[in-house]
Amino acid sequence: MGICEIIEKKRDGVELSKDEIGSFVSGCVSGTIPDYQASALLMAICVRGMGFRETLGLTEAMASSGARLDLSDIPGRKVDKHSTGGVGDKVSIILAPLVASCGLVVPMVSGRGLAHTGGTLDKLESIPGFRTNLSLTQFKANLRDIGVSIISQTEELVPADRKLYALRDVTGTVASIPLIAASIMSKKASEGTDSLVLDIKVGRGGFMKRADQARELGHLMTRIGREMGLTVVALLTSAEQPLGKAVGNSLEVQEAISVLRGESASEDLLEVTLELSSHMLLLGGRAHDLGEARNLVRSTLQSGRGLSKLRELIGRQGGDSSVVENPERLGRPEFQMEVTSRETGYVAQVDALEIGLASNQLGAGRETIDQEVDRSVGIFLAKKVGEEVSRGERLATIYANSQAKGEEAKERVYRAFKIAKEKAKPPTMVIGILRAG
Ligand code: URA
Repeated sequence: MGICEIIEKKRDGVELSKDEIGSFVSGCVSGTIPDYQASALLMAICVRGMGFRETLGLTEAMASSGARLDLSDIPGRKVDKHSTGGVGDKVSIILAPLVASCGLVVPMVSGRGLAHTGGTLDKLESIPGFRTNLSLTQFKANLRDIGVSIISQTEELVPADRKLYALRDVTGTVASIPLIAASIMSKKASEGTDSLVLDIKVGRGGFMKRADQARELGHLMTRIGREMGLTVVALLTSAEQPLGKAVGNSLEVQEAISVLRGESASEDLLEVTLELSSHMLLLGGRAHDLGEARNLVRSTLQSGRGLSKLRELIGRQGGDSSVVENPERLGRPEFQMEVTSRETGYVAQVDALEIGLASNQLGAGRETIDQEVDRSVGIFLAKKVGEEVSRGERLATIYANSQAKGEEAKERVYRAFKIAKEKAKPPTMVIGILRAG
């Protein structure tokens, strides 16, 4: 069947066969299916959905589009973490070195910014020289020597996700349960991890706005994991407001470094990071129960070993590791503008979607597939939900490279804040835990 017929079939809500899915994936990778047809099918999947067999078929076809790594010759348990995407989510940059310094091997194939959410790869590439497109040999050497490496999809590893991920980012086709599941689980099947902790974001800043959708996605991914022989635990965490205080690539790297340095951290960011890390330690057999795992993660963070591991990781991937001591080396954009409160009261909401879109307007994300992101721009939140604020006090700072874009973002960021007379409770961060079974 030709690609036009496959698109029409999905448009009409008919289930695709394994062969049809396979020919779509291989055609995308070889380039015989042009972007406009691939995008049309992605949109049809977005609107019509996919059944379990189709989603598993898509995941397997994507995973088999490149090499499937065997890490069994590298000593130690391999455990990874992947998020479905949120605003201000810099957890991987803290967690990967932290968990590796607790004795596990963390093989992490990450993603770039998707729609209004940022991506670990774009963030890490704000470190001068940092390379994410390592060869598989270099990736394995890092895992063997320092226990951690964070790379992108490449020509060798999940090229299908490399292609489809970039298309979805700019065609309004990210928020689809089967496409997210196949994108994430194909990367995890290819990288050779033994087990996986998923962070399923729920709320305004995530792609799943409601808990029932997030549960559906979590159940689907744990089920796919089981079919592929992966042990998966999924945590549902709140994405109502941005995670932590920084949004934007280099600003988020600075915040991640400051957490690893043991400086005062935003409570929500610390909680999500420690919780996900603890589940990784439990899966990797480094603790008998969650309490023990939490103690190990906390003491490792306090010891500074996570920070040293980040320094090693940056150095191994070609980056300037002195940013760990001198985060100002990451550079600042030309303009800084303050957003101030027009009322006195308590912050009741910081709409993560609006903040993510404002950050993209500043240039932190992509509008077209070949657009370069501006890694220095973003937003720093001075206030989060539950905090008191006086009229005229700073709510946020905008970091911009264009005065006009900065002014636009300023208004959007102001509108993202809701100030109330009564004190609001910060959101509960861990909403639920799902396991296969
Ligand atoms: N992360 C991914 O790798 N893929 C998605 O589709 C969403 C988040």
